[in-house]
Amino acid sequence: MSRTLVICKPDAVERGLVGEILGRFERKGLRIAAAELRLLDAELLGRHYEEHVGKGFYDDLVAFMSRSPALVAVIEGPEDTFAVVRSMMGPTNPASAPSGTIRGDFGTITTENLVHGSDSNESAEREIAIFFPGLV
Ligand code: CDP
Ligand code: MG
Repeated sequence: MSRTLVICKPDAVERGLVGEILGRFERKGLRIAAAELRLLDAELLGRHYEEHVGKGFYDDLVAFMSRSPALVAVIEGPEDTFAVVRSMMGPTNPASAPSGTIRGDFGTITTENLVHGSDSNESAEREIAIFFPGLV
């Protein structure tokens, strides 16, 4: 079994797309292991996005991610679930994301790109520990 962290970002919650996004993962055959609607603060986001702290887009990213609640979830499947989720999300910029991906179908701009998914099994382990420290 393999797990990854998914965040339906504030734009997805505001637009009523959480069911659509999680439904895609469920229909793919993945399972929701944990999920919580949560208002994320700058301290937590600084740990989650540690590799981006100080970059040009970072302040806008934190303002966006903390403006209203996000749906934070742990998704599980048989193997390399992070890669399955990432391929279903599409590339970072929704304007160039293919149709059929979440970002390609629902997004237009890079910051508000609807969904986060861990980029490796190591990232998944690190990020799950940040958001769901009690999860076994
Ligand atoms: O989320 P993903 O792993 O695809 O992209 P990232 O490069 O790790 O960037 C994290 C998040 O920062 C993105 O999902 C965007 O929301 C935001 N971002 C941005 O606003 N402008 C950029 N040039 C790059 C990323
Ligand atoms: Mg990333």
